[in-house]
Amino acid sequence: MSRTKPTVVITRKLPDVVETRMMELFDVRLNVDDHPFTTAELMEAVKSCDVLVSCLTDSITAEVLAKAGKKLKLIANFGNGVDHIDVPAAQGRGIAVTNTPDVLTEDTADMTMALIISVPRRLFEGARMIREGRFRGWSPTHMLGHRLYGKRLGIIGMGRIGTAVARRARGFGMAVHYHNRRRLQPELEAEVEATYWESLDQMLARMDVVTIHCPHTPATFHLLSERRLKLLKPTAYLINLARGEIVDEAALIRLLQEGKVGGAGLDVFEHEPAVNPTLVAMDNVILLPHMGSATIEGRINMGERVIINIRTFSDGHQPPDRVLPSVS
Ligand code: DGY
Repeated sequence: MSRTKPTVVITRKLPDVVETRMMELFDVRLNVDDHPFTTAELMEAVKSCDVLVSCLTDSITAEVLAKAGKKLKLIANFGNGVDHIDVPAAQGRGIAVTNTPDVLTEDTADMTMALIISVPRRLFEGARMIREGRFRGWSPTHMLGHRLYGKRLGIIGMGRIGTAVARRARGFGMAVHYHNRRRLQPELEAEVEATYWESLDQMLARMDVVTIHCPHTPATFHLLSERRLKLLKPTAYLINLARGEIVDEAALIRLLQEGKVGGAGLDVFEHEPAVNPTLVAMDNVILLPHMGSATIEGRINMGERVIINIRTFSDGHQPPDRVLPSVS
């Protein structure tokens, strides 16, 4: 990369404070009206910039990367997940990819807890009853939900976010279980009082609430397949703030309709931004518009991470948040 200011294309509107700092540091092209870039726009952008600041709404395929000019050496993703980027193809072309880990952990864990509480306690149904003027007063059997305290929470993916959820869940008196590619270090496992399951199938069949926190990769596509969803207890709740593609959404809908899954809290969807209307109509489901990490503080922190990645890379060093192609 040259010693002059790197040319940076930012594909979506970022918080003003982040954009302003980037304007000071780099030669930036902003996306002022915040429209999602089309494939043609992405192809045009990669032709001439040094750095592309992408987001999860950009599908950066091998075809897009094939249009990259010689100057493009870094895709500094504004976000944690990189499943929208063909990382091996980027690596093959000598383009580094970075993301923004850590800074959205606590916000995402908070929102996960919000859904873990809201679905069994029927928060959305209750709020809607008030808004629609249907509240006729308290009765002993009115709006009964299910208690969290003492229930088993199964966490799929015990990375930063999974662990942050585990800490919160312990505070609510839940028993924490987890499935992960690798078992936690004994000290951390003891700290969150978590039970490890090497077999996801075995864990699923025993949990009251299951929450997903693994990345979406070819290996985790439909990890929760119809077969695995059928292992859940009929009273179990499924929470997903990771990626929609990890769950076979059509199968989940069928099982919810048949009463074979107790309910769901979903912040992400398999065909996002499309949301299946059958899900929308279900009372035992709470749907959110991919807002798990959406805090102003978090977005500013993400922007700061992007800036650090670009600056270290431009200075000829290894950026701190380099993403390598996944091995499985
Ligand atoms: C991410 O960073 O991958 C999140 O899904 C964005 O909120």
